[in-house]
Amino acid sequence: MKVTKAIFPVAGLGTRFLPATKANPKEMMPIVDKPLIQYAVEDALAAGITELIFVTSSSKRAIEDHFDSNFELEANLFDRGKHDLLELVQGILPAGISCAYIRQKSPQGLGHAVLCAKQLLSSEPFAVVLADDLIDGGQQSCLQQMVTVFEQTQASIVAVEKIAPADTKKYGVVEIESTSSHIAKIAGIVEKPEPAVAPSNLGVVGRYILTPAIFDMLENTAKGSGGEIQLTDAIAKLLKKETVMALQFKGKRYDCGSKLGYLEATIAYALKHPEVAGDFQALLREFAQCVN
Ligand code: G1P
Repeated sequence: MKVTKAIFPVAGLGTRFLPATKANPKEMMPIVDKPLIQYAVEDALAAGITELIFVTSSSKRAIEDHFDSNFELEANLFDRGKHDLLELVQGILPAGISCAYIRQKSPQGLGHAVLCAKQLLSSEPFAVVLADDLIDGGQQSCLQQMVTVFEQTQASIVAVEKIAPADTKKYGVVEIESTSSHIAKIAGIVEKPEPAVAPSNLGVVGRYILTPAIFDMLENTAKGSGGEIQLTDAIAKLLKKETVMALQFKGKRYDCGSKLGYLEATIAYALKHPEVAGDFQALLREFAQCVN
């Protein structure tokens, strides 16, 4: 089966970026000139996803507007002959891509957010993409790498990367059956373990491909870490019935859910942005001198 749908859980409050996120969705924060959610969508589009499902909340209307047309802006750009900008704005979503929005009425966790989208998925595999994790996959987007594995195995798959041992309590952490390859079967998975009890130093980053069996698991998953319904706990249940794989993807991931990760991403993307890269490099050199 092919993966054509992706869920983007975007209902979170973004408390780590207050006050910026008081009235604006954290997913709309830009890295240079593009909002985080657009990078996440581009990761999915590169993997052949054609149906985007956003699980939103009342304060996230800007996301819906971003992926819709803006007649006033487009007419204005057209009248002023700003064709490059018009193309940029109209090209945010290519033709043939559809968007659906569903509300998560209260923040009850990632697992609950995924469950909210159940009615929009029949019996097919789907992706879950967390916009907080910005991933530069280089030649191939992270989700594209995962879809390639899924097409061979038809098994659920999560993206993982090595994390600092002290950071296990920020991630879902997997135990894998073999460490000899970058793709392995998962033997166990636990949400945010203390370093002393973590099964490994492989942390889950925000990209998943899941079979529809996950919904039965989610429906029977009690509140876990942080008092929320955790996707990780449902995957732990799924493991007992189906194979679930972990992929150590190629590429660089930026944790844009943290201030430092967000700043790191901004620097990395500015240094390769065609419009500002040169001047920005010069600026950084000046700053570096001040720091020394
Ligand atoms: C979520 C997941 C966690 C995963 C992380 C990746 O946690 O629950 O398993 O490792 O995303 O970013 P959150 O960062 O939303 O607390």
